[in-house]
Amino acid sequence: MSARRPLIAGNWKMNKTGAEARSYCERLLQLLGDGEGPEVAVCPPFTALEIVAVALAGSGVWAAAQTMHEAPSGPHTGEISALMIVAAGARGVVIGHSERRAAGETDAQVGARARAALDHDLTPIVCVGESLDHRQAGETFSWLSGQVRAALAAVRPDEGARLAIAYEPIWAIGTGQTATPEIAQEACAHVRAVAGERLDPAVTRVLYGGSVTPENTAGLMAQSDIDGALVGGASLDPESFARIVGAA
Ligand code: PGA
Repeated sequence: MSARRPLIAGNWKMNKTGAEARSYCERLLQLLGDGEGPEVAVCPPFTALEIVAVALAGSGVWAAAQTMHEAPSGPHTGEISALMIVAAGARGVVIGHSERRAAGETDAQVGARARAALDHDLTPIVCVGESLDHRQAGETFSWLSGQVRAALAAVRPDEGARLAIAYEPIWAIGTGQTATPEIAQEACAHVRAVAGERLDPAVTRVLYGGSVTPENTAGLMAQSDIDGALVGGASLDPESFARIVGAA
C-alpha cells in the first residue's frame, strides 16, 4: 500500500444555501459513520463555508473553499483570502479549477495562490487538465507539464504531503464522459512524474476529477497513480457522495 491516504473531495460549485449545506453535512456524517475510510473534504460556496466547517467539526471530514486570492487583503472586490478561509474554519482550498481558469485565472496566479494557501496551513487542491483540443492535437502531456510546473513553482520540496493535485480533463467535467481508468492513470502518472521534479512523488497525492460517479469510482481508484477524486455533480447528493467514499 502506498503512503498516500486517499482523498475524496466534493466540489459543490455554485450550489446550496447555508441551510441546505447544514442538513447535507448532518446526513453525510450519518452515512459515513466513523469508519477508517479515505480522507473526505467538502467544498461549499463561500457563503456556506463556515456553516459547513462548524457542522463537520470534530468529524475528520473537512471543509475547503473553492478558490482564493493570493493577497492577504486589499482592493479585490468579490475575492477572499487564505486568512478568511482559515478564520471560517476550513482546512483546504481548491485552486486553479478549469472553471476559474476559464474566467481568467492564470498559471502565475495558481502558483501564487498555492503558495499563499500553504503559508496559511491550508491544503491546496490544485487543478490541472487539458481541453479536448489539446488532447486531439497530441498536446496533453506538454500542457499538463506546464500547468503542474507553474502551480508548484513556489512550493518547497518538503511540502508534497501538504497538497493534492487534481487531474481534471476539461472534456470530462460535467459531461458524463469520464476518462477511462487507463487514460486517467496515464495522465495522473505524468502529473506525478512532473510534480516529482520538485516534490517527493511518493507522498504527493494526485486525484482524478471529471464525471466521477459511485459506479466508476472503484475502477479509477484501482489505478496505481490515482489517490482520490474531486467530485462535482455526484457530490451534491449526500447519498451519492457517501457511496463514492465507500467505493474508494
Ligand atoms: P463533475 O465536476 O464531477 O461534475 O464532472 C468535477 C469538477 O469540476 O471538479
